[in-house]
Amino acid sequence: MSKQMQNKVCVITGGAGSIGAASAKLLQHEGAKVMLVDLSEPALKKIAADIGGGEVAWCAADVTKSDQVKNAIGATVARFGKIDVLFSNAGNFGTVAPIADYPEDVFDSVLAVHVRGAFLCAKHAVPHMNDGGSIVITSSVAGVTGDPGVYGYITAKHAQVGLMRVLAKELAGRNIRVNTVHPGPVDNAFQLNVEQKLGAVIGRDGT
Ligand SMILES: NC(=O)c1ccc[n+]([C@@H]2O[C@H](COP(=O)([O-])OP(=O)(O)OC[C@H]3O[C@@H](n4cnc5c(N)ncnc54)[C@H](O)[C@@H]3O)[C@@H](O)[C@H]2O)c1
Repeated sequence: MSKQMQNKVCVITGGAGSIGAASAKLLQHEGAKVMLVDLSEPALKKIAADIGGGEVAWCAADVTKSDQVKNAIGATVARFGKIDVLFSNAGNFGTVAPIADYPEDVFDSVLAVHVRGAFLCAKHAVPHMNDGGSIVITSSVAGVTGDPGVYGYITAKHAQVGLMRVLAKELAGRNIRVNTVHPGPVDNAFQLNVEQKLGAVIGRDGT
């Protein structure tokens, strides 16, 4: 039986993280050629070595920086040719605080990774994508709900839905599908940090 992703070229941001690395492993198992993009070279090297086998490459880049994203997309094209799948998955959480106390720099940094990051990845990748390809953006259940004090993360996860809708309409003519996915809590370090920060606020309020 042929593999579902045979020879498909997939770029994964947040590729050294929990969901990114697990996705890379699955895609590679299904025959894809994978480019992992994340902040830390040592972390990327380790994940690429752990996945092993098949064609797995990596490129360190901060998705909030246009020149670095352009470089990572260029490295993908140089190594594998045209791109079939962009998995825009990099994420940070920020903090939990009442509106009057929520730090502006944290708000900006969370929107920068999720919203500007996904925008820049699409901007630089789309010209190199095959017709019929797919863009997937990891939003969250936080992209369809609200929770007190989670200003950066929840706003960013909703904004990714807007980005997805605009891209989907623009790229429909090329049969490039654009979707957000909205996972609930995943048992990993990212979610533990979220729950500890939310728990501290709930504890403070006594609710
Ligand atoms: N863990 C959960 O329960 C959960 C639930 C819903 C959605 N999500 C979303 O899933 C995605 C992946 O999260 P995860 O759970 O694997 O967490 P994770 O922390 O393991 O992975 C996130 C990765 O993104 C990378 N990253 C952060 N800022 C970056 C930047 N500026 N440039 C490039 N890479 C950057 C981090 O280095 C990290 O490796 C995130 O978008 C997160 O919001 C997670």
